[in-house]
This record gives sequence, C-alpha cells and structure tokens, in this order.
Amino acid sequence: PKVTFVGDGGLELTVEAATGDSVMSVAVRHGVPGVVAECGGNQSCATCHVWVRDSYTDLVGPPGDMEDDLLDLAVADRRAGSRLSCQISVTPELDGLTVDIPPEQP
Ligand code: FES
Repeated sequence: PKVTFVGDGGLELTVEAATGDSVMSVAVRHGVPGVVAECGGNQSCATCHVWVRDSYTDLVGPPGDMEDDLLDLAVADRRAGSRLSCQISVTPELDGLTVDIPPEQP
C-alpha cells in the first residue's frame, strides 16, 4: 500500500509501505521531516502527530482513549483528522492514505 506524506514546505512524498507497519515507522524510515517520534511508538510523546486527509478518516478510524488524551498535548492544532501516526497500522485498504505533517513538532 502506498502512503503519501504532505509537509508544510511543499514536501510531498509517496512511498510503498508494508502491511502492518505503522505510519510513523514508514515516515521515519523515509526521513519525513516533522515526524520526530521521540518515544519510538510507545504512545507517549505526540511528536508523531499527523492530520489524516478527510477522505481517509473513516477508514483510519478514531484515536483510542490514551491517544485521544495525548493528542490534546500535541504541539500543532488538533483537527478532525488528528492521529498519532505510530497508532495507525498500514493495511491494504489504506492504500493511497494521505497525511499532512504539522509544521513543527519539537
Ligand atoms: Fe511517540 Fe507516537 S511516536 S506517540
């Protein structure tokens, strides 16, 4: 399945991801700027926050409870499509998934 990352400074990167990867690990592997993932996917840093594009929010689904709390602490605004990318698993159904990367996530 393909995943596209769209960044603030005109970055647009489409990569082939493996089923079962987290969107965060795909981003880190490809050096997508802005996905810091400080905690390494342990759902405790919120520096892997992304905005899932509208057309994919239903497929991706809502955040879990713990993720929901953390998203309130993310640096960039929380929007309808806000998710922690470490909590999104790539599946074949998500092919074409497009996420926007917030401009800064220290
Ligand atoms: Fe830290 Fe996702 S990598 S919460």
